[in-house]
Amino acid sequence: MHTTHRDDFYADPLIYDVLHAPGTADEADTLLSLARAHLPRILSTKPIHFLEPASGTGRFLLHLARKGHTATGLDLSANMIAYARARAALLPPRARQHLQFLVGDMTRFSLDAPADVAFCTINSIRHLMTDRQMLAHLSCTRRALHPHGIYIVGIETAQPALAQPSEDVWTGKRQTPTGNIRVKQVVQYLPPPHLGRSRTEQVISTMLINTSGQEKQVDSTYTLRTYSHAQWRTLITKAGWQVQAIYNAEGTPRPQATLGYYLWVLAPTHHQPRKS
Ligand SMILES: C[S@@+](CC[C@H](N)C(=O)[O-])C[C@H]1O[C@@H](n2cnc3c(N)ncnc32)[C@H](O)[C@@H]1O
Repeated sequence: MHTTHRDDFYADPLIYDVLHAPGTADEADTLLSLARAHLPRILSTKPIHFLEPASGTGRFLLHLARKGHTATGLDLSANMIAYARARAALLPPRARQHLQFLVGDMTRFSLDAPADVAFCTINSIRHLMTDRQMLAHLSCTRRALHPHGIYIVGIETAQPALAQPSEDVWTGKRQTPTGNIRVKQVVQYLPPPHLGRSRTEQVISTMLINTSGQEKQVDSTYTLRTYSHAQWRTLITKAGWQVQAIYNAEGTPRPQATLGYYLWVLAPTHHQPRKS
């Protein structure tokens, strides 16, 4: 079997999309219901303008556009954006007319038309490796939203002294015009050493890709920045946001959450929470 090492884990959008497609519709619907719960009531029944920084293959936005919402995706990777645009071109005209994918850096961007709801899930925000980058990102996202807008961030917080190595296994399959693809990915997360100031988690990915019976292995490594609960909350406040609510990945409220992966609903600090 042929093995290659890739520096850029996001170099092959098709393989990324095959791995992450399962569950996408449910996750996008959870984001939609949180948006409806937190936007002012008068807006929550209308089409919503969603912005996704680090949108990757656009899997969430394509689903939301199919449901009649406006969607803007932004990603640093030109490959990811080209893939997302190609998928968008296959949608009915009604769905794709309010959908755009832009190449850009989530630490410095602006939008022509403000969005109602931004979201960035599955720890993509942890690709930003300094406080300065995170503050820049939180500031330009705030400027890209309407004053009533909210930002839903899916991020894992951890207690550095307790963090242990962990592993995830993802699988996916898809029929394409050029053959059947099956992918299995094993991802190891190696937290920074307990002693020391590093906040860099190493992520080691091994993918087995089977394309119509031909198997190859692709290895890659990348880094994510770690956050304790307090470090994350401090940056939220410093960047002019407040926490409106915290949910688990399925959209169940978890107001007392401290450690683990949660969806944080943020609003600009001037924002008055909706009364129910
Ligand atoms: C884990 S993927 C998530 C993609 C998509 N949000 C999803 O859930 O499928 C992370 C994405 O972040 C993008 N990314 C990393 N750093 C970025 C930056 N500074 N600005 C914009 N996108 C970035 C990568 O290119 C990649 O597509």
